[in-house]
Amino acid sequence: MSAHNPATKSLFASGSIKVNAPGTKYTDDAITAEYNYETTDVVIESNGDVICKPKTETLVFNTQRKVPKTGVMIVGWGGNNGTTVTAGILANKLNIKWRTKSGEQTPDYFGSLTQASTVRLGSSGGRDVYVPFNSLLPMVHPNDLVLGGWDISSMNLADAMVRAQVLDYDLQRQLYPLMKDFVPLPSVYYPDFIAANQSDRADNVLLPGAGKKEHVDAIRGQIRQFKEKNALDKVIVLWSANTERFADIVPGLNDTADNMLNAIARNESEVSQSTVFAVASILEGCTYINGSPQNTFVPGVIELAERHNVFIGGDDFKSGQTKMKSVLVDFLVSAGIKPTSIVSYNHLGNNDGKNLSAPQQFRSKEISKSNVVDDMVDSNRILYSKEGEHPDHVVVIKYVPFVGDSKRALDEYTSRIFMGGHNTIALHNTCEDSLLAAPLIIDLVVVAELCERITLRRAAEPASAAKRFHPVLSLLSYMLKAPMVPPGTPVINALFKQREALVNVLRACAGLAPENHMLIEHRTVDAGKALLAAAREAIGTSNVSKDKKSSGASTPSTVTDDESVRL
Ligand SMILES: NC(=O)c1ccc[n+]([C@@H]2O[C@H](COP(=O)([O-])OP(=O)(O)OC[C@H]3O[C@@H](n4cnc5c(N)ncnc54)[C@H](O)[C@@H]3O)[C@@H](O)[C@H]2O)c1
Repeated sequence: MSAHNPATKSLFASGSIKVNAPGTKYTDDAITAEYNYETTDVVIESNGDVICKPKTETLVFNTQRKVPKTGVMIVGWGGNNGTTVTAGILANKLNIKWRTKSGEQTPDYFGSLTQASTVRLGSSGGRDVYVPFNSLLPMVHPNDLVLGGWDISSMNLADAMVRAQVLDYDLQRQLYPLMKDFVPLPSVYYPDFIAANQSDRADNVLLPGAGKKEHVDAIRGQIRQFKEKNALDKVIVLWSANTERFADIVPGLNDTADNMLNAIARNESEVSQSTVFAVASILEGCTYINGSPQNTFVPGVIELAERHNVFIGGDDFKSGQTKMKSVLVDFLVSAGIKPTSIVSYNHLGNNDGKNLSAPQQFRSKEISKSNVVDDMVDSNRILYSKEGEHPDHVVVIKYVPFVGDSKRALDEYTSRIFMGGHNTIALHNTCEDSLLAAPLIIDLVVVAELCERITLRRAAEPASAAKRFHPVLSLLSYMLKAPMVPPGTPVINALFKQREALVNVLRACAGLAPENHMLIEHRTVDAGKALLAAAREAIGTSNVSKDKKSSGASTPSTVTDDESVRL
């Protein structure tokens, strides 16, 4: 049977989802779901035997249904990502259309996992049913986000959007009056951490010369004011400012929460501006997300987040080359093909590229890009049988002003295949940097906000034992190049594992089994019979009704592609 058979075409449903299961309960406030979490305990015995013990644990997920009024404060608001995400949300919210040489364009959220992707929910009469990702649980809509933030450049968002040269002229023209009154708040600026070539932008500096403790307090005040002024229920803070150099991890300075706070009080030079923002956000109870590669989350910040039970997520948006890598290497290794060398070149001409042309800032990016294949390589000791064996992996980034925000990524993957053969894949990826990053910013905020409303516990525990996810919110990994995970837990870079983890956790919150793709019902000897019978009956009915209507000869009918079936 052809894959294009209209009778098996999937259905799309965009209404609200209600799970009819004994373990799932809806109240006005919450969705509570009992969920059987099935895992496998494995024991490798001394003689090499592998003993597996399936394990089932019943968990109870609770999701608050009321979607709060949410503000997002972006550090680096006037940059290419900050202006693009702001402009994109405004254009969507106001349905602003614009003309290009290809005709009229309409706003969308393409590239956003939560807004533009779908999830297979189950099946209806044998046909797959897909729903929008964001209909699985109540999530904030990006059009309802209130945006604000900081920048060391005082340029208003309209002029900054023009400076970014990302969006089409006709769209910029219409957005300009709507964005010209958005002016970034003054920000903390420690020139030692970002490239010297950024200094000419720094005309909007918060309390220059003041100590870091005063900076933390001032940022906390700015967050509180933003929240009050916009009558927000919560604020999420996200770093999309320039990449900093790595901070040194120094015992007694930033290795514990108390040492970190004391170091800030002592105005220690090795505390970066991004760490100052993270500490201020945590102390204000606001989730903090790091979209750049630097090590903002030194051990002291992680401990502080744990102490205050505030989410932190990072590092570095996974938008272009690395996203491809986290798909391609997963495909190769899981196909039994052995990548032996991965060479990645990038050139870009935006301000991010200018900042990354400085060696220390490039080093931060190089580190965040380089570990992305580790988990996949580590998963297959048939291919990588020698201790520590790893593909050669090189990353180069060059600043080429002419290409602007249109970053070019060139990759060569060479692999060992059957019987000593080689396979080489060469990719050229035009990344359109900020247009890929802006939807990730939205997804990071939407998923983090949702996670703030989810708790879980074991069924045997009292309701009071329910807790949120670990403060290091690894469920954000899909959007991040170097995903942070709770200390002592494995890092997953493979893109589809990351996506499935997120989808299945959200399904669990609604009391639905994970999507396992087994589709046993379509593989048995009776597979497809019911669906074909129903389709034949539908064709018969439709022919009868056509015959009744038409006075002439009837045309043979089929179930058509545009036939919709109501659920
Ligand atoms: N666009 C992507 O695809 C992508 C992917 C991964 C990571 N990133 C990271 O996102 C960050 C932003 O990228 P971009 O293209 O928007 O860069 P950008 O240079 O256009 O924007 C950064 C903004 O941060 C501001 N800034 C610098 N220091 C600041 C401070 N201390 N406080 C407040 N503002 C400050 C700058 O003035 C600038 O407006 C970079 O670190 C980049 O590496 C981007």
